[in-house]
Amino acid sequence: MGLNVQLLRDSFALVVEREPEVTHLFYDVLFRRFPQARGLFGRRTQREQEIMLRDMLVAIIDHLEDASWLGGQLGALGQKHVGYGVTPEMYGWVGAALLETLETIAGADWTPALASAWTEAYAAISSLMQGGVQPSVG
Ligand code: HEM
Repeated sequence: MGLNVQLLRDSFALVVEREPEVTHLFYDVLFRRFPQARGLFGRRTQREQEIMLRDMLVAIIDHLEDASWLGGQLGALGQKHVGYGVTPEMYGWVGAALLETLETIAGADWTPALASAWTEAYAAISSLMQGGVQPSVG
């Protein structure tokens, strides 16, 4: 089953247009829901981290149909995360916080189709970051 690329792109564009500080909101949600994640961060300022995450999400959305880019970039990013002390369980925290953030910003425009498209996309991304094979990407 392939990802719903158009739906993901359109909804991401809508979210960023409504809330350019989407990743600032994301960290608020993450640290409120999972305060235990806070201690992992701090190599960079929160602002730098927000920009790096936003730029990476934009790049991922731009490359949803480019399996070799996704495999290379996300594999390398996942390796760095091992070095940051990120464990598989934590991917669930970030997924929940990301979905909640997107849903909050999209508001009345959030639909069950969007929820499942983003759930699948996040699963594919986290699988690639953790070195898994994800043949449905691309
Ligand atoms: C979709 C999944 C994720 C994406 C796209 C993502 C993206 C990024 C990016 C772009 C960076 C900085 C760039 C770099 O180090 O090269 C970063 C750093 C980091 N990420 Fe993630 N990440 C993801 C999942 C997670 C998860 C599950 C955790 C666990 C809580 C996490 C915790 C961290 C930490 C601790 C840093 C280092 C922050 C610091 O500088 O102190 N990330 N992430």
